[in-house]
This record gives sequence, structure tokens and C-alpha cells, in this order.
Amino acid sequence: MQIHETAFIVSTYRSYHESVSKDIYAKLWNNPKTEAIIPEILDSVSTNESILHSLRNRFFHESLQSFFSKNKGGVLINFGAGFSMYQFLLGADVHTIEIDKKDIIEYKKNQIEVWTEEGKLPERNTTYISFDFNHDSEETMITELNKFINQQPIFIVLEGVLFFLDRKVTDKLFTVFKNIQSSGDVVGSVSYIPEIEHTDVYKRLLHYFDSHNNTNDSFAHQTIPTSYYTQIEGYRLVEHTDECKLSKIYTPNTPLEDPNEILNEHLYLLERV
Ligand SMILES: C[S@@+](CC[C@H](N)C(=O)[O-])C[C@H]1O[C@@H](n2cnc3c(N)ncnc32)[C@H](O)[C@@H]1O
Repeated sequence: MQIHETAFIVSTYRSYHESVSKDIYAKLWNNPKTEAIIPEILDSVSTNESILHSLRNRFFHESLQSFFSKNKGGVLINFGAGFSMYQFLLGADVHTIEIDKKDIIEYKKNQIEVWTEEGKLPERNTTYISFDFNHDSEETMITELNKFINQQPIFIVLEGVLFFLDRKVTDKLFTVFKNIQSSGDVVGSVSYIPEIEHTDVYKRLLHYFDSHNNTNDSFAHQTIPTSYYTQIEGYRLVEHTDECKLSKIYTPNTPLEDPNEILNEHLYLLERV
């Protein structure tokens, strides 16, 4: 499995629970190769993975709707965007900058153009940038991003990415965020807390990745304590939740009760001070 394949998997999960994820466009990315992999993951790691990723998307869907209803003409910057489709459910006034590795960005840009021409997607103002967070410097990222932003309110999404990066690269990304954002702007981030490392379900996840990693992709397996987010210079932690808690809000008839039985990700909203 290559890291970019995880973007197809997550997108397909969202398509399985449209009423929860609210991502009515996710299914455009569905393909037989990904759908053939998913049953084995659900079986060997955890059956809850598809609903958890849909809850995660719902959290950001709601957070983005709220931010951009108050900040007209703002910019959404999605770091490690994969096949996220948030912009198509936001107003056409939002400018979206999608960042990912080159192969994902080129494929996504091309597909979005085709589907927009075919009328399957509404027109949106999207800029596509390819970075490799491990190799591009903070100066490179800041200089490139500054070409496309000019004092507008910015919401940065960093979703489903930090597991693959190490702490040094994570610090680098937050330095980039701090440089391009202004007071009142928001970062939404997702990661696992270190306590998950002791759970059977997380051990099964690592085993799955290790036994299917037939490429040179590096997997950092990063977990991050909540205290990391409270100590980031230039930011204030304004919201912290997790997928277990989100299930009580968005799937109240089937709430997830035990965070130790699932791959429970924690979600954070940080405001630039
Ligand atoms: C699990 S997917 C999540 C995609 C999307 N954020 C979502 O939640 O649907 C992880 C994404 O992070 C991207 N990614 C991982 N490592 C990266 C790196 N070093 N530089 C840029 N993108 C990276 C992958 O290409 C992939 O699209």
C-alpha cells in the first residue's frame, strides 16, 4: 500500500455514510481497486473505520460552514487534501488551496476539471499545489502560498496526515501556518493520542500497514499528546473533541461507547492569536 492509496480509502469510507459525512461528492472517486481492499481492512483492523472517517469529515464540514459563513471571501487551505471535497459544499466565494504530493494533485486537478465540465460538480475557485512536507522547506512553502493569499481569513485543514509525518515535519508545518495566518484564523488538525499505542486495535492497524507496505513510503506512525496543541506558539486551542464524542452527536442511535475499542482520532481547532 502506498500513502496516496489511503486517500482513496478514506474518500470511499465517506461515500458509505453520506448522511453522516455530508460528502455527497465522495462517491465520484470510488473505484474497484479501492473497494476490493476495504473489506480486508475492516475485517483485520476494525469494522468502525468507515463511520469514524465519516464523523471526522462531518466535524470539519460543520466547522468550515461556520467559519466561512462569518468570513466571506476567505481561503480554505487543505494540507494533505487527498480527495476531500469540502469546497463543493461551501459557497462559491471561498478560494480553496489544495496541497498534496504531486501524483495526487495532478490526478485530482484533472478529474475535477472533467467532472466540472460534465456538470457533476459546481464551479469552484481552486488552486492546486504539490508539496512534499518531508522534503520542501518552510521557506518554499511560505513563499509559494503567499502568492495566493492576501490578508483574507484562512482556515487550514490538516486531516488524516499527521500519522504519516514525524514531529520535526509537524513543527515545520505549524511554523508555515503561523507565518501565513493572521489573528482570528483557524487550524483544524487531527491526530491520535499516545495512549492509543497500548490498544489492540492500534496494534492491528500498524500490523496491517507494515504487512502491506511494499513501497518505499515511510510511515512515521506519529501520535501526539493534547498538550502539544496547547503549547503551539501563536495559537490558542479553542476546541478539542474525538470521534467517540462526535458519534454521540451525529449517530446518537449507534453511539461508540469505548474509545479503546476503536481507532479514535482526536480533533482540534486552534485559533491564531
Ligand atoms: C489518509 S489521506 C487523507 C486525505 C484527506 N486529508 C482526507 O482526510 O480525506 C493522507 C493524505 O496525506 C498526503 N500526504 C502524506 N504524506 C505527505 C507528505 N509528506 N507530503 C504531502 N502530502 C502527504 C497523502 O498523499 C494523502 O493524500
